[in-house]
Amino acid sequence: MASWWERHGVPRLIKCACSQGQVMKLRSRVVPHARGHVLELGCGGGINMEFYRPGQVESFTGLDPSPELLAMSRAAAAEHGMAADIRGGVGEAMPFDSGQFDTVVTTFTLCSVADQVAVLAEIRRVLKPGGTALFLEHGGAPDAGVAKWQRRIEPVWKRIGGNCHLTRPIGTAYAAAGFAVDRQAAAYMPGTPRPFGWVEYGAARVAG
Ligand SMILES: C[S@@+](CC[C@H](N)C(=O)[O-])C[C@H]1O[C@@H](n2cnc3c(N)ncnc32)[C@H](O)[C@@H]1O
Repeated sequence: MASWWERHGVPRLIKCACSQGQVMKLRSRVVPHARGHVLELGCGGGINMEFYRPGQVESFTGLDPSPELLAMSRAAAAEHGMAADIRGGVGEAMPFDSGQFDTVVTTFTLCSVADQVAVLAEIRRVLKPGGTALFLEHGGAPDAGVAKWQRRIEPVWKRIGGNCHLTRPIGTAYAAAGFAVDRQAAAYMPGTPRPFGWVEYGAARVAG
């Protein structure tokens, strides 16, 4: 059973840390590209809701395992007038047909899943041929000094931050899962301690 911290502390920590100005700026560069039948994996908190373009989105589906974050996500969808099917579930075994979505959005989600490789395989499966995975994730930094601190901090941080890992690969993980990756940017976020601040974003396509 989830602890008090997991049920109450982690959702508030996520909502606060993930809606800082710099983070919102990055979201605004990624999420508006979503089009067609859209799945947001790890939609908890609903922070991306304001960035979807209603005219481009034919349907919106959200999936997340946290009941508390799902409630926030449903409230955000209602606030933005977004008709949404927001469900409980995990990315490792998605309750969707193969080839169902034009776009799968993940922002700051692959850091927290139990099995990143299984989730990427599922993202590929549920995307249509020619579909796009839009990603904005933080992860393993390229600089040895920063990477060393990430490895040191990660065991404690995972326990505080809802299984958030600091060392996971991002663009290279999509490429290893068989996507053609257009990594649009990779940099340290200004104003964020470097072990937490390496972000990569872009689009990963399934061969059409
Ligand atoms: C750091 S939060 C980011 C939330 C949101 N994506 C955002 O950008 O603000 C990580 C999210 O991943 C979700 N998550 C954790 N494990 C997951 C899994 N196995 N499958 C899908 N989502 C998962 C969490 O519940 C949480 O909503």
